[in-house]
Amino acid sequence: MCGIVGYIGERQAVDVLVNGLKRLEYRGYDSAGLSIISDSNLITYKKQGKVADLETIIEGKNHRSNIGIAHTRWATHGAPSDVNAHPHRDNSGRISIVHNGIIENYGLLKKALIKRGYSFHTETDTEVLAVLIGAFYEQTKNLELSVRKALSEVVGTFGLLVLSLDEPDRIIAARRGSPMVLGIGDGEYIIASDATAIIQYTKQVIYLSDNEMAIVSKDNFATKTIDNIETNNQIHQIEFDLEELEKGGFEHFMLKEIHEQPYTIQNAYKGRLIADKGNVKLGGLRNVADKLRNAKRIIFTACGTSWHSALVGEYMLEQLAGVPVEVEYASEFRYRNPVLYPDDIVFAISQSGETADTLAAVYEAKQKGCTVLGIVNVVGSSIARETEAGIYIHAGPEIGVASTKAFTSQVMVLALVALYLGRMKNLSQLDGKRIASEIIQLPDKINQILARCEDIKQIAKKYIYAKNILYLGRGYNFPVALEGALKLKEISYIHAEGYPAAEMKHGPIALIDENMPVVFIATKDEIYHKIISNIEEVRARGGKVIAIATEGDTQIKQFANDVFYIPETLPMLTPILSVVPLQLLAYFFAKELGRPIDQPRNLAKSVTVE
Ligand code: M6R
Repeated sequence: MCGIVGYIGERQAVDVLVNGLKRLEYRGYDSAGLSIISDSNLITYKKQGKVADLETIIEGKNHRSNIGIAHTRWATHGAPSDVNAHPHRDNSGRISIVHNGIIENYGLLKKALIKRGYSFHTETDTEVLAVLIGAFYEQTKNLELSVRKALSEVVGTFGLLVLSLDEPDRIIAARRGSPMVLGIGDGEYIIASDATAIIQYTKQVIYLSDNEMAIVSKDNFATKTIDNIETNNQIHQIEFDLEELEKGGFEHFMLKEIHEQPYTIQNAYKGRLIADKGNVKLGGLRNVADKLRNAKRIIFTACGTSWHSALVGEYMLEQLAGVPVEVEYASEFRYRNPVLYPDDIVFAISQSGETADTLAAVYEAKQKGCTVLGIVNVVGSSIARETEAGIYIHAGPEIGVASTKAFTSQVMVLALVALYLGRMKNLSQLDGKRIASEIIQLPDKINQILARCEDIKQIAKKYIYAKNILYLGRGYNFPVALEGALKLKEISYIHAEGYPAAEMKHGPIALIDENMPVVFIATKDEIYHKIISNIEEVRARGGKVIAIATEGDTQIKQFANDVFYIPETLPMLTPILSVVPLQLLAYFFAKELGRPIDQPRNLAKSVTVE
């Protein structure tokens, strides 16, 4: 949520900042803005809308500047508007800040500042922080100290960049609960919410920790805690390449990411799956292997799509390892005093590694003494760093707001965890080998599905009239039904619900009529005949059925209006295949309807607010 970027060095700051904002735009696109120092002036441009709208107002201005900060917004406090756009200034007009996060006590702080004679021009919580920093600066005449003092009064979360005319050779950065990465170039620094805004200039980065600040000037930088204790940070290397941030010939990032899946799931198991032994090697879990083996219970916590993959993981771990598993919405987890035991293992699953609810669940579980592990995509992200150990899914940057390749990679990693734990327990080598041999066939099978994506496009065209769509599946395909419905909702704005197919008769069946298409994920498994009965129940009420079925299943054609076939695999691995046509279906619906697929309304990629 919200992207921030700062630059100091020899380049034209405006170019670096605008480039950075374009990379970060997937984090929020309600407004964009920047501040630079040029010829001893603090100049700010900001505009409601996308970075392209900001570009129209700075075009041709040609300010010479080598220092600046910028922001792309996902609105929380105050509607999306020019005035509420960041950067925000203090009352002197000499300090400018950009902020990602929420200042929870901004109301109280604002009242107190108004009493002291300060004024406000926006509805944002961020302006309160800017004015507070300015108020301290009046007393201290020291920017770093003023930021530190202001932050000690603040309750909430922030990724913050501060620029001041009085100290024009430095940017002050600080974080608590919102990510911040410092890119170390040759005589230049780029500070941003994530590495995507940095990689064009350098691959060397430092991930700031919570409650840490960086004071960055052209030739050096210092890091310290907000209460002024010096810190030492390891320099990391960004693992992905610039090309991974481009669309690579696809019309949308989402479509590109869907097509990357044969390769990304391979990345998830490469070097980990020992196929000829039916085993798995998970270096990230080496130090917690005994705890895992002895766990009485495993809890997955996540949000959105990651929560759906957790559900698949639940079924897998129970099937292969015989361990009880619970799946918790991270957003509910800490608010209901969950009963946790020290020998519980809690896995936090997150693509971004920054989701505020999931991070809060991590803290809650840690506080209760559990072993907390991560299954995360973004290297160096908060959840990756706050968990005791974990596994990266290695899906590469996911830019489309609708998560696709992260889902299949998470499910892949969960299959590895289930196999790993299963083999530590009672799963035979023969079964392990069978699963492994099916896993390595998956990339090819996804390719076979992608090769028929035109068929899905035709299905989307046929049902484009629909205002509501129901997604039904059983067993391993129930979470896929949820995921298919979520994909459709978020990018096409068509209302969709996912249900376990057998639950339909307990309520949703009342919705069925000839205008209500129902997507059944009806692949061949032990409960196939049951789902056929559910399909018949829908047909009997005039509903239209789109079936995702297993190749070779000719019977289903009698029951469904449209069938899309996927290759056969083990039921536990089916979600990795059956979700792909549903991702494409959502994509083509949204495209037919002319929706902004990579940046759907009201959403942002990583939800760093509660
Ligand atoms: O980064 P995370 O996996 O923690 O994100 C969780 C959800 O916000 C995310 O999956 C969201 O539901 C996606 N937009 C779904 O496509």
